[in-house]
Amino acid sequence: MHDVTLTINGERRTVALDARTTLLDALRDHLGLTGTKKGCDHGQCGACTILVDGRRINACLTLAVMHDGDTVTTVEGLGTPDDLHPMQAAFVAHDGFQCGYCTPGQIMSAVGMVGEVAKGWPSHASASLNGKPELTEAEIAERMSGNLCRCSAYPNIVAAISAAAK
Ligand code: FES
Repeated sequence: MHDVTLTINGERRTVALDARTTLLDALRDHLGLTGTKKGCDHGQCGACTILVDGRRINACLTLAVMHDGDTVTTVEGLGTPDDLHPMQAAFVAHDGFQCGYCTPGQIMSAVGMVGEVAKGWPSHASASLNGKPELTEAEIAERMSGNLCRCSAYPNIVAAISAAAK
């Protein structure tokens, strides 16, 4: 077993884990953070998307021990039912979900994607004068292509992200 210390949603937590434990299983099974979903468990669906040091990753594809000392944000760290994060509020306003299973991953990916664009990554990304990204719906769809929705709520998901990114 290995002690792994993470700063998760602003809280420093240490957990003893088998070295083979994925970050996804560490969050869900050892840290009680079940907002991050397990879909395919092999990097195909995006349901497990979280932010590590501000960058989106598939938590099922990485081992928790590799992230000792990292800062992790999960959907539980975005907002509360009474005080939604703007991206969460936009998903509600635009019906950006149907069954909802992919929604935490979609929202985390969207938040990470908007942050990446605002930082000018990748380099062809454009940013408006106020520093917020300017993204066409086609660009949003492309940048969100790692997040699948089996209900096919894609038009509303893109509309929500477009609204939140403005
Ligand atoms: Fe990680 Fe599907 S559960 S990509």
